[in-house]
Amino acid sequence: MRQSLPLLTLVTAAVVSARPSARAADCCALLSAIYPDKVAYPGTTAYSEESGNYWSSTCTVPALTPGCYFIPDEVSEVSTAVKLFTDNECKFSIRGGGHHSTPAAANNDGGVTIAFSHFKQRDVDPVNNIVHVGPGNRLWEVYSATDPYDKVAVLGRYAQVGTGLLLGAGLSYLNNPEGLSVDSVVAHEVVLANGTVVVASANSHPDLHKALKGGGDNFGVVTRYDLKIFDRPHNVLGGLVTYGEEAMPFYDDLTYDYHVNAAVNDKETHILPQWAFNGATGKRESFTPCYYGKDQPNLPPSLQPWVEVPWVHNTIRNTTELAPLAFENFDGYSNGDAQQQRTITIFADREFFHEVSERWYQFSQRFANIEGFYALHCKMPITPFMIEKGLQAGGNVLGLEGIDRPISILYFGVTTKNLADSDPVFAAHEQFVEELRSVAASRGLLHRYIMWNYSGFNQQVIGSYGDANVAFMKDVSRRYDPTGVFQRLVGGQKLPQ
Ligand SMILES: Cc1cc2nc3c(=O)[nH]c(=O)nc-3n(C[C@H](O)[C@H](O)[C@H](O)COP(=O)(O)OP(=O)(O)OC[C@H]3O[C@@H](n4cnc5c(N)ncnc54)[C@H](O)[C@@H]3O)c2cc1C
Ligand SMILES: *[C@@H]1O[C@H](CO)[C@@H](O)[C@H](O)[C@H]1NC(C)=O
Ligand SMILES: *[C@@H]1O[C@H](CO)[C@@H](O)[C@H](O)[C@H]1NC(C)=O
Ligand SMILES: *[C@@H]1O[C@H](CO)[C@@H](O)[C@H](O)[C@H]1NC(C)=O
Repeated sequence: MRQSLPLLTLVTAAVVSARPSARAADCCALLSAIYPDKVAYPGTTAYSEESGNYWSSTCTVPALTPGCYFIPDEVSEVSTAVKLFTDNECKFSIRGGGHHSTPAAANNDGGVTIAFSHFKQRDVDPVNNIVHVGPGNRLWEVYSATDPYDKVAVLGRYAQVGTGLLLGAGLSYLNNPEGLSVDSVVAHEVVLANGTVVVASANSHPDLHKALKGGGDNFGVVTRYDLKIFDRPHNVLGGLVTYGEEAMPFYDDLTYDYHVNAAVNDKETHILPQWAFNGATGKRESFTPCYYGKDQPNLPPSLQPWVEVPWVHNTIRNTTELAPLAFENFDGYSNGDAQQQRTITIFADREFFHEVSERWYQFSQRFANIEGFYALHCKMPITPFMIEKGLQAGGNVLGLEGIDRPISILYFGVTTKNLADSDPVFAAHEQFVEELRSVAASRGLLHRYIMWNYSGFNQQVIGSYGDANVAFMKDVSRRYDPTGVFQRLVGGQKLPQ
């Protein structure tokens, strides 16, 4: 009995706080009149389940309660719904896996959120080396679809993350040999603002296809991704290496060497170099996913140094499946805490890598006493070869062409248990990243790019792609969404005005 009390309070709170505007109430009602079984209102189990499907509490509480969730099963239903939203000026959002931490990216207050929970298509075409992926899949589900074929798509590393990364950039086990995730999409099935369904590829609507490689939810609702898949050996090496304070003095040297050596010269390698400050212990720790796409008993010499420095736990093993690796990586990243992520991009530089880590460590220690405080930092390479692969696939809108050496995506994430504690942390976090940007710029190490997938809500992502790409995207938007539905009615990262 005592246990059921908080749940009851939660449900009541959701009902009370969801007071949709008259306009939004109309939109849910209009939709519900057509699809009564697919619209979930506050107070129902379906609504609670969908609002529990977000990684960060910044996406749901306190003021982000949609009037209803729309949970379609068919593309035609998405088409009807989007046309209805356009005709009635309904505010709406699109949710894949709900792992973006930006408050209004995949949810809204009082409008309709399309939840793709039922879009689970993941059909492998082993002859043409394509997997057809519905936007409601989590990455582990796509890995488990391709694992039996000894094939793999260019996907992220964490089991429960959704397909949104296919519209942003996409860091993956396969980046070094195959490039970014966006560049491995050979076709997007898209519902346009007027409800028309088109398949955008190199041969049909190539402008829309290109704009979606980095352009996120600015052009339409994607209802299917056709992704390239690649052969891999039946047995590969993969696992997670855990480090404690003892490894920290070595960590940035290893990370720098990975950026400029292994990632460039030994392309079957993949390391996700990340470490965190844990407020509860007052110590630093690292959980580093590692992958080598060859069948051999040991890591190659280029990765060997990662297991020669002191580690705490090491699960690198001979494995035939990638889905379990994705689960192992995700352990500890469960839903419901308050999260803010921010990112900038720099040219890889050994000395500056050390300085960034030291500054982040100093910053993190200030908040050790806040409940659930966790400060995660990653440095992740993008190499000139990865850009080249993107160009071979028809190009994207990220504006990364022309780099002559590896750049590094610097990720900074902060977590607090309670949203109520987050304001000062989030504000200081923003200040930290902006200061670091200035320092990087003054050293001549800043690259303008801001990766969508790790961006903060008020970081100018699209603007960072450069003027030519922005102009191109505005043109695509005018052609496919002449009344600006995806600019005005859908939140998140929009085209600069
Ligand atoms: C623990 C964790 C690990 C991560 N690991 C990686 C990683 O290894 N590699 C990497 O590249 N990124 C990674 N990310 C970042 C992640 O890729 C992005 O947060 C991504 O946006 C998540 O996609 P989603 O579908 O879960 O997000 P959602 O929050 O559901 O959606 C994000 C955005 O995409 C839009 N969108 C989603 N689906 C559609 C659609 N069908 N049509 C149009 N627009 C749509 C939404 O409107 C929203 O703006 C990680 C994030 C977390 C929290
Ligand atoms: C990745 O980038 C695309 C743009 O939003 C965006 O649609 C998707 O939500 C992003 N995912 C992340 C991780 O931000
Ligand atoms: C991996 O395991 C399989 C099956 O046990 C074995 O045949 C193969 O030789 C192993 N590979 C290596 C490199 O150890
Ligand atoms: C829908 O929009 C597209 C892109 O602007 C356009 O080509 C198409 O003719 C429109 N369809 C209808 C029925 O208006």
